[in-house]
Amino acid sequence: SPSRFALIELPFVHDARGDLTFIEGRRHIPFEIARVYYLFNVPVDSVRGGHAHRKLEQVIFALSGSFRVRVDTGQQRADFWLRDPRKGLYLANYVWRELDSFSQGAVAMVLASTPYEEADYIRDYHIFLREVEALR
Ligand code: TYD
Repeated sequence: SPSRFALIELPFVHDARGDLTFIEGRRHIPFEIARVYYLFNVPVDSVRGGHAHRKLEQVIFALSGSFRVRVDTGQQRADFWLRDPRKGLYLANYVWRELDSFSQGAVAMVLASTPYEEADYIRDYHIFLREVEALR
């Protein structure tokens, strides 16, 4: 089965005046971008996420600073330390995620495949495992 999570590397243009990275929807992101949101002013001891999505796919970038993303598909777990604005973490649907260990001034930008929809969230880990199991 295709990977439920993966790092995506964006192009960048290095220049003495500073580096530049760009994102063209269809070309660099495996879904049509319907929403962009960002986390900022995050206290360093904050834990975000703690849920999965039934439909939503996302790509998470650390635009500034760094943080950890813990992912869990119900069968496989991994930790990613995001700190390079050129490298995003793709998450398919049905991936439990937690974001923590935010550095001072960290900014997390998220590209999302659908508008915000509360009914798409699974906020109970045991319900998540049950739904993942039922899909296998
Ligand atoms: P939530 O997704 O729980 O945050 P995180 O996963 O980063 O911990 O969202 C927090 C609040 O913000 C919740 O009340 C819903 C609201 N929200 C929106 O209104 N639109 C959005 O696009 C997002 C991501 C959240």
